[in-house]
Amino acid sequence: MKTPELPEKLPRHIAIILDGNGRWAKARGLPRSAGHAVGSENFRKIATFCKDIGIEYLTVYAFSTENWKRPPEEVETLLKLFRKYLQESIRKMEKNRVRIRFMGDLSPMPDDIKELIARTQELSERYDGVSLQICLNYGSRDEILRACRSLLNDPPEQLTEQTFSDRLDSAGIPDPDLCIRPSGECRLSNFLLWQLAYAELFFVDTFWPDFGQKELVKVLWDYAERNRRYGGL
Ligand code: IPE
Ligand code: IPE
Ligand code: MG
Repeated sequence: MKTPELPEKLPRHIAIILDGNGRWAKARGLPRSAGHAVGSENFRKIATFCKDIGIEYLTVYAFSTENWKRPPEEVETLLKLFRKYLQESIRKMEKNRVRIRFMGDLSPMPDDIKELIARTQELSERYDGVSLQICLNYGSRDEILRACRSLLNDPPEQLTEQTFSDRLDSAGIPDPDLCIRPSGECRLSNFLLWQLAYAELFFVDTFWPDFGQKELVKVLWDYAERNRRYGGL
């Protein structure tokens, strides 16, 4: 596919809530698992596209602290897809050269997934060009509470926005410039509540499995036209 024309001003950091897999499948008379499988392939395509056009940071919401409420078969399908994704990422590490980090409380993940995650992070540490953050069992409130707990014994006067940010899972990563949520839902569902304080928000009707290059480029053009004032004039 020919790369569409891009605006001059591109964001450094894009955050995406990968939503709408289930409704995409339902609209086609397919099981929800099919939606997750196509959504996961789409994630690879979009991540590669972001890298190709020079986006430095991409953060995606793949599984929330609330998603355990889904039926066990669906959770199992998602875990299977994470496994597959991690195995492929390890295989393609040399070729892709992307630093992969995980955000969220990984402790309830099955042991083999924890091992794959540890291996992925360790192998990809040496790449410092493009950085991908995958949020797994991630909830912003949980992340903020974990950060607070880790600070309880520090002198209160040392607490600043910077020292607090340094305790979040996103430590060292600049805040997202924009957040995209496909699927028509206009909410954050516990995603990056601290980090998105000044992000530009884009709610797009397309379901995630259909959210391709064209849809992303359209958001990038809209983003380039927004006037970010940060409270100033
Ligand atoms: C996103 O798609 C995947 C996860 C939340 C893990 P959904 O499964 O939420 O799809 P919809 O929102 O039901 O369409
Ligand atoms: C948000 O989507 C979480 C992820 C995409 C991982 P949900 O589908 O879980 O969000 P709600 O339930 O519609 O708020
Ligand atoms: Mg959803």
